[in-house]
Amino acid sequence: MQQYHGAQVLITGGMGFIGSNLAMRLVEYGANVTLVDSFIPSYGGNNRNIAAFRDRVHVNIADVRDEYSMNHLVQGVDFLFNLAGQTSHLDSMLDPYSDLDINCRAQLSILEACRKNNPHLKLVYASTRQIYGKPDYLPVDERHKLHPVDVNGINKMAGEWYHILYNNVYGIRATALRLTNTYGPRMRVKDARQTFLGIWVKQLIQGIPIQIYGDGLQLRDFNYVADAVDALLMVAVSAETDGKVYNLGSSEIINLHDLAKLMIDIYGRGECQLVPFPPDRKAIDIGDYYSDFRFIRDAIGWEPQVSLRQGLAETLVYYERESAFYFE
Ligand SMILES: NC(=O)c1ccc[n+]([C@@H]2O[C@H](COP(=O)([O-])OP(=O)(O)OC[C@H]3O[C@@H](n4cnc5c(N)ncnc54)[C@H](O)[C@@H]3O)[C@@H](O)[C@H]2O)c1
Repeated sequence: MQQYHGAQVLITGGMGFIGSNLAMRLVEYGANVTLVDSFIPSYGGNNRNIAAFRDRVHVNIADVRDEYSMNHLVQGVDFLFNLAGQTSHLDSMLDPYSDLDINCRAQLSILEACRKNNPHLKLVYASTRQIYGKPDYLPVDERHKLHPVDVNGINKMAGEWYHILYNNVYGIRATALRLTNTYGPRMRVKDARQTFLGIWVKQLIQGIPIQIYGDGLQLRDFNYVADAVDALLMVAVSAETDGKVYNLGSSEIINLHDLAKLMIDIYGRGECQLVPFPPDRKAIDIGDYYSDFRFIRDAIGWEPQVSLRQGLAETLVYYERESAFYFE
């Protein structure tokens, strides 16, 4: 994409799963990329995520909660992809104040840093389908009521709306994408903090039966990370998206049991088993979910390009090769 050549780009959460995949693409497009990440061990940041292009990005180990750092870092930036976040739903219940500080308060200070130091940049915020809570109807479109079922969902909802507010009141161009389950190379797989799919990949490769909670009939849609990166890049350069909130999603809808069976089929071996839902997870489970993503498709022509089978195959190849850097 031509617009990124020579552009100054800041990615918060840039050492994490989606941020590092985005950084890799921006480097290919000739952008000057700075990654800011607090690199807290229980989150998704991993040095290996950027190993292939480490000498072509600037890395700033800083916390988005630190207003002084953010005031400095936003200066001169053309595009800010705001991806830093505490992503574990369960952790947000166990430690609600950290989630509040990162996913809510720090979002406001990032926006304040932009307002004071660089109101002309374009911001893209990584929001989440979690803010809808347990769907009232399917597929879920952007008009669906927001009734999050966990602390993380509430804080991400606020984070999202701060961005839209600053767009509307101060003219700081901002777009929010409500990501659905995103998977692929560089996701955290050592535990289920980021996504259950991560630990499934590890279990499959290690020859441990994939553990599916409940009856396995919960429906989901998934985006391969390259497709999510496309959406982030496309909305950032489109003036039409300013002040808008879009769902991402996929038309390939699958239940979790079938997903596990598909992974086993692609890998050529493995097993899965249904296990009782742990009560703390059941309490914040959203049941079936899949998105209506026609709004972004009609606005800028985004739709997923990578099939679930193809994306899972690429993911399994990556983690077989890279297990030493991701499993422990
Ligand atoms: N992966 C998904 O399925 C998914 C779905 C919906 C929304 N999202 C959103 O996308 C964004 C990126 O998610 P991801 O999957 O790449 O997760 P990730 O954990 O791999 O990336 C987030 C990064 O943010 C960093 N970070 C956390 N707190 C920070 C802080 N205070 N200061 C600086 N850096 C900090 C972490 O170290 C990590 O590298 C998150 O905001 C998440 O809520 C992801």
